[in-house]
Amino acid sequence: MFTKHWILGLAFSVFTILAIVIMYRMRNFSVKSWEKQRETSADLFGSIEESLSAIEDIRANGSVKNAMRKFFDYSRKNFKAFRRALIRDQLFVMTIWGIIAIINTLVFAPSIPLLNNGIITLGTIFLVQVFAGILLRPIFQITRQMQNLQRAGASIDRINKLFDTKTKILDKGLQKFSPGPLTLEFRDLSFAYIEEDYVLNKLSFKLNPGRILGIVGQTGSGKTTISRLLFRLYDTKSKDGFIKLNDIKINEISLEDLRDKISYVTQNVELFQASIRDNVTLFDKRVKDQRIDLILNDIGLGDWLNKMPEGLDTIISSSEYGISAGEAQLLALARVFIKSPNLVILDEASSRLDPVTENLLEQAIDKLLVNRTGIIIAHRLATLEKVDDILIIDKGHIVEHGEREELANNPNSQFYQLLQTGEIVELLK
Ligand SMILES: Nc1ncnc2c1ncn2[C@@H]1O[C@H](COP(=O)(O)OP(=O)(O)OP(=O)(O)O)[C@@H](O)[C@H]1O
Ligand SMILES: [Mg+2]
Repeated sequence: MFTKHWILGLAFSVFTILAIVIMYRMRNFSVKSWEKQRETSADLFGSIEESLSAIEDIRANGSVKNAMRKFFDYSRKNFKAFRRALIRDQLFVMTIWGIIAIINTLVFAPSIPLLNNGIITLGTIFLVQVFAGILLRPIFQITRQMQNLQRAGASIDRINKLFDTKTKILDKGLQKFSPGPLTLEFRDLSFAYIEEDYVLNKLSFKLNPGRILGIVGQTGSGKTTISRLLFRLYDTKSKDGFIKLNDIKINEISLEDLRDKISYVTQNVELFQASIRDNVTLFDKRVKDQRIDLILNDIGLGDWLNKMPEGLDTIISSSEYGISAGEAQLLALARVFIKSPNLVILDEASSRLDPVTENLLEQAIDKLLVNRTGIIIAHRLATLEKVDDILIIDKGHIVEHGEREELANNPNSQFYQLLQTGEIVELLK
């Protein structure tokens, strides 16, 4: 263009630089709205997943309409966010094209006086037109790619935010346990999930190796919280006391060793859409089938396993080969046997089981507790018969702690009252 006339060359250089500057300045124009759209889309699919896994509860409570309303709400939010992002997307393209059109006109303007004064010919103006076309094509292409880049940028931002999340549970400990049952000690332990709203208050108690502790308390009194802290699913602040295992503070023990030596059977057993083998071993391929068979037979799931068409390969948790609540609990115990830990925490499910399954469960628990330290969070009186010590807590405070035999023979103890009424729930009302 400069070889034709320097004014044309200059006008085109200014035009190109301006176009690039504008594109550069607008490069993040729609990133935020795409980010918002990605968020609403994640909410929508999260909600669908949640509704599908709770489908039985939703139907049983006649809440299908409510679930659908929730689905429509999320869909609407997602649609609106999507529409907004698309509009901003198009606004970006239109702005750039509009500005290019204006600049284009301004660039052509100088050719009119040049033509009138006979400095350039009509042929040159046509040439300028063709050159402009060659220059604009890549600019339009870049604009389109920038649109895609903005969508990708939104996703990258969200992924980076996820990667930036730091775990609060630091794995700095190096200590390991010696084999055998563990000693457990809580000293002045307090804990709050939310700032200063303490759910455990200055708990102090000790559990000697090989002994079994039964924890009883009203719903919401903090029983499950005790197990979570012991397992370091949450950490306490240093001013709020400590937990020791074999005289070592738990944050000085390596997380791997801690979670290897303690097993925690949670209140609600989670099953995976996977084979029975994977559900028992939790995807540990090192465990031999023979061992799984032996354990399942031992805890009374042998007949159940024999009924499964593909044995250990049968996929459970699908509707076809479902599993009852009692069987699920037994399966959760099988997981503990595989791990063979030194301390077992059982957060007993509060749901009632049929007497046969309950009996199987009792026997399995008995076997599990041999030569191990144990904590049983009990919801049934029968379970308390196998414990050595009793801890009664209420609203995060220890109400009573002592040997079961002693408390059972002391008419002034809460535990004695409990045995009289025969119902845990009764006592705690
Ligand atoms: N993740 C959490 N965030 C905030 N508060 C929580 C959380 N989990 C539990 N809580 C609260 O902490 C208190 C103790 O809960 P916890 O689950 O330990 O009770 P629990 O004794 O196990 O009850 P249940 O017998 O019903 O199982 C309750 O008031 C509960 O609402
Ligand atoms: Mg609980």
